Amino acid sequence: MKIRLPHSFYNIVSYAGAAIAIIATFMFIFLYALSSFTHGGTAYEGIVIFLVIPVFIIGGLVLIPVGMIIKYRTDKKAGLAFTKEFPILDLNIPQHRNAALIFSAGTILFLFLSAMGSYQGYHFTESVQFCGTTCHDIMIPEYTAYQNSPHARVSCAECHVGAGANWYVKSKLSGLHQVYATIAKTYPRPIPTPVKNLRPARETCEECHWPQKTYGKQQRQEIHYLPNKDNTRWVIDILMNTGGGNPALGQKSGIHWHINPDIQIEYITTDEKRMQIPQVTMIKISSGDSVVFENKEEPLAESIHKNVQHRIMDCIDCHNRPSHIYRDPSQFINIAMASGSVSTVFPLIKQVAVEACMKEYETTEEAGKGIADYVQNFYSKNYPDLAKENADSLQQTILGIQAAFSKNIFPEMKVQWTDYPDHIGHMTSRGCFRCHDGKHVSQSGKIITNKCDACHSIVAQGPANDMQYASSQNSLPFKHPVDIGGEWQDTGCYECHSEPPI
Ligand code: HEC
Ligand code: HEC
Ligand code: HEC
Ligand code: HEC
Ligand code: HEC
Ligand code: HEC
Repeated sequence: MKIRLPHSFYNIVSYAGAAIAIIATFMFIFLYALSSFTHGGTAYEGIVIFLVIPVFIIGGLVLIPVGMIIKYRTDKKAGLAFTKEFPILDLNIPQHRNAALIFSAGTILFLFLSAMGSYQGYHFTESVQFCGTTCHDIMIPEYTAYQNSPHARVSCAECHVGAGANWYVKSKLSGLHQVYATIAKTYPRPIPTPVKNLRPARETCEECHWPQKTYGKQQRQEIHYLPNKDNTRWVIDILMNTGGGNPALGQKSGIHWHINPDIQIEYITTDEKRMQIPQVTMIKISSGDSVVFENKEEPLAESIHKNVQHRIMDCIDCHNRPSHIYRDPSQFINIAMASGSVSTVFPLIKQVAVEACMKEYETTEEAGKGIADYVQNFYSKNYPDLAKENADSLQQTILGIQAAFSKNIFPEMKVQWTDYPDHIGHMTSRGCFRCHDGKHVSQSGKIITNKCDACHSIVAQGPANDMQYASSQNSLPFKHPVDIGGEWQDTGCYECHSEPPI
């Protein structure tokens, strides 16, 4: 049976529109089924299914009435058409009935597919795959670091967007700008941090970690290797006084006191990276009492002409690297040595590996080659017999150094630890010492503490053959692994340990 449609449908534009819409719909169904069976696939597959094909379906559907209108107008001009301005729908006429049926069925199918498509599209544009791999070259540092982090299974959107339509729309609007920057290649390298307009951490992080949870104390073990012939292994067991923030439990001390719901800490910073903090205000919300601490060596008045920013302290002021952690060579070589991927058989390997990774490289490939040459040459020249006897192990060690490098330093995006200072601690960046430097004083003379045992206790330290231990109630006085006299007491650790200095 031939399905007859209104006269105005029979024109080339509407035919083309119908063909495009039908083909695109079949492609959508086919690819969608295929990707469901293959459990995902790549980000590009998602872009085609949920962003490109729907544009063709809608475009095709729009072309049908456009063609009909054009045809109606040309027919009218030629004196062929009806005299009425709008078409008359009469279900007794078979052409009209068919058109109405096709239109209704088509609309229902279309609405169904678009509901399904937009739901899936929503999920897709919030997926780690989409965020982490679409603009692959640009996101490679963040994505790689993320995959090696404690949050490797928390989706990007859970920290960057969070729940609610409001932030979803905001993030997609700024996403459009990012797409433009990617195509026009105007994006900055490295991507600037801190992220402007990041959703307040208390709305995202607290979906999973809430201040009412009391953390108590956590022990961390830091394994170091010294830059000497023996690659001396030096362990530090440190008990973090994380504490709690729950006033109901009366726990008002410890590091998480800063996020106690009754406390608000506000600070003023004079630089983009929030490294200089000349003034801190502590407010007790229930009583409204406040105390202002000022850096006595660099008070605000002197720096007020600079770019002053007010900020309420939240998780990100300490945990700014919960997921994108870029370690410095000394740290990542320590980890590689502790895990065995860099062999301690080779004298001075700690020092040589760090030196190889510290050099400037333009690309990851060049770095790989540079590291291999540097390490190989060093041992061939200084320890030729050892290098020959352990040729395989040396190759494995070089691979281990290269792998550690590529997880932490990204020459193409100009990303390394110095670009993203980590605010936890005080080793490679000023971190806690931005306020806890012993220089921030209130009017009544109260100092924001910088006592070594205010935040943690050292419960064990030293090389295996000469370990010192303390009970968990006491802290050992810190012993610097290499002899620098009492220098560490007066000079911040970060001043020597961040390279280049910040
Ligand atoms: C656990 C939470 C969390 C997850 C998961 C997460 N991020 Fe982030 N991201 C952050 C925080 C916090 C910052 C830095 C905020 C600051 O310093 O202002 C950040 C910063 C960034 C930046 C700016 C550059 C930088 O390193 O500071 C980019 C780009 C980024 N994230 C992309 C991603 C992508 C892509 C994913 C998923 C593959 C992801 N993030 C997953 C929390 C997260
Ligand atoms: C969707 C849930 C989720 C969100 C959102 C989230 N986290 Fe986590 N976070 C986790 C999980 C799961 C772990 C691992 C817990 C474990 O190891 O016991 C974790 C671990 C951590 C740790 C401990 C890391 C370590 O070295 O052991 C810190 C610190 C942390 N998160 C901070 C944050 C911060 C800051 C944010 C907000 C930017 C955030 N998290 C957002 C789920 C989340
Ligand atoms: C923006 C400034 C600022 C930063 C950054 C900061 N703190 Fe504080 N901290 C304060 C202020 C203000 C106090 C309260 C001082 C007082 O009342 O004597 C405080 C108090 C503390 C206390 C004592 C709480 C108590 O009463 O038991 C600890 C422990 C602490 N901070 C640890 C840290 C650690 C660890 C970091 C880094 C991860 C850090 N702080 C970063 C401002 C800061
Ligand atoms: C004053 C700095 C500071 C602030 C503010 C802060 N933290 Fe922490 N947090 C720490 C330190 C220091 C540790 C100890 C672990 C470490 O050294 O990494 C820690 C530990 C944690 C842990 C891991 C506990 C464990 O069991 O190992 C989680 C999760 C966490 N913080 C989440 C948060 C969240 C969420 C917020 C915001 C609501 C927040 N923190 C605010 C400094 C801070
Ligand atoms: C305001 C709090 C605070 C003060 C004061 C403080 N620290 Fe720390 N320290 C931290 C935090 C937080 C970390 C953990 C960093 C991390 O999670 O990686 C840390 C880590 C360390 C580590 C382990 C580093 C590593 O990589 O092995 C040592 C050692 C240390 N601190 C010694 C000291 C000494 C010595 C002092 C006194 C001069 C001191 N700290 C003062 C907060 C503090
Ligand atoms: C005057 C400079 C200086 C100061 C200040 C300093 N260090 Fe060091 N530190 C060194 C040197 C030099 C080494 C030798 C190895 C190297 O270059 O990493 C070293 C090595 C170390 C190592 C072992 C090697 C490694 O990187 O794994 C640790 C741990 C360490 N220092 C902790 C600290 C802590 C904690 C502080 C602050 C309380 C501190 N240092 C302050 C100069 C300094």
